[in-house]
Amino acid sequence: MRDRPRTFVRPSLRELQPYTPGEQPKSRSLIKLNTNENPYPPPASVLQALRELPGDRLRRYPDPVALELRETAAALHGCGPEHVIATNGSDELLRLVLTAFVEPGAKVVLPDVTYSLYETLIAIHGATIERVPLRPDFRVDEAIADAPGQLMFLCHPNAPTGLPAEPALVEAVLDRFQGLVAIDEAYADFADYSYVRELPRRRDNVIVMRTLSKSYGLAGMRVGLGFAHPALIEALMAVKDSYNLDVAAQVTATAALRDQAALTDSLTKIKATRARLISALRELGLEPFPSQTNFVFVRTGSRARARGLWEALRADEILVRYFDRPRVDDCLRISVGTDAQIDRLLERLALHLQLQRA
Ligand SMILES: Cc1ncc(COP(=O)(O)O)c(C=O)c1O
Repeated sequence: MRDRPRTFVRPSLRELQPYTPGEQPKSRSLIKLNTNENPYPPPASVLQALRELPGDRLRRYPDPVALELRETAAALHGCGPEHVIATNGSDELLRLVLTAFVEPGAKVVLPDVTYSLYETLIAIHGATIERVPLRPDFRVDEAIADAPGQLMFLCHPNAPTGLPAEPALVEAVLDRFQGLVAIDEAYADFADYSYVRELPRRRDNVIVMRTLSKSYGLAGMRVGLGFAHPALIEALMAVKDSYNLDVAAQVTATAALRDQAALTDSLTKIKATRARLISALRELGLEPFPSQTNFVFVRTGSRARARGLWEALRADEILVRYFDRPRVDDCLRISVGTDAQIDRLLERLALHLQLQRA
């Protein structure tokens, strides 16, 4: 053996900055408001579906095309299963979209700032990034419609800002952008409107992506859904792993989609807590953005203050998300937790702000 192993890593990946997921600590006492998970577990109907899985279903391979899940998702959103693909989290779908529709070396358009995993996946794919800065109010600039690229990731509502992509912007993008538009609706169940029902049936240049990780409280199961014209779905199906979704994921996701009463209940609670969090942050003298998601993005006034609060909360065993990148380095992103978790957060935040100001 040599002192140092030889590197077999592709030269183009040697400098890759891997995606940094939010911390997933083991401690149970910790208040975790850093990865936008649902603070409430999935309903009894979902747990029951999991318990009732016969051993024989585990012995066999899962349905490679997840037909029951796709039919359920299609019925829910007013289309046929030929408009739907089911994936191992929407993260897998992001990767499949690149594989199916972007030539290595081609450009992918992103608003700057948005979900940072897009950048990592684009780099791994060997494509290049065309960034279009957000407007000063953090809305997506309509100039993005004319940016050159084979694909655009447009997150509605955007992460980490929590702001929606408005219909006029989306229509302009779909009319003018030369490539495919991937609308990431990971948080759209928490928003006032969504594009999932209408656009995939009306346009052939769009895919709308959903996840069960946030609104349905199934992050641990890893289920994403894509809605698009059947020709696009066919192209994605052709490049996915044969058995990309395991049996437990298919069964629990189907049960979750069928229990819309439970979804409504969870959304109602989270939106009420979100409203309370936003007004309390304002009362503390901070500047929260008007969120359409299950997190609140809040301006603290300076990078030093944001970092200081993030660290102080961490010492209190409260995790929130801080992004040390230009334009958002004075902000914190706080997931909407249970009422008790948010009470504790606000109490500690008030104290740390007092100390910082003293
Ligand atoms: C904007 C956005 N898209 C996609 C995802 C990935 O979701 P999934 O858990 O389905 O992979 C996330 C998760 O944080 C997200 O914030």
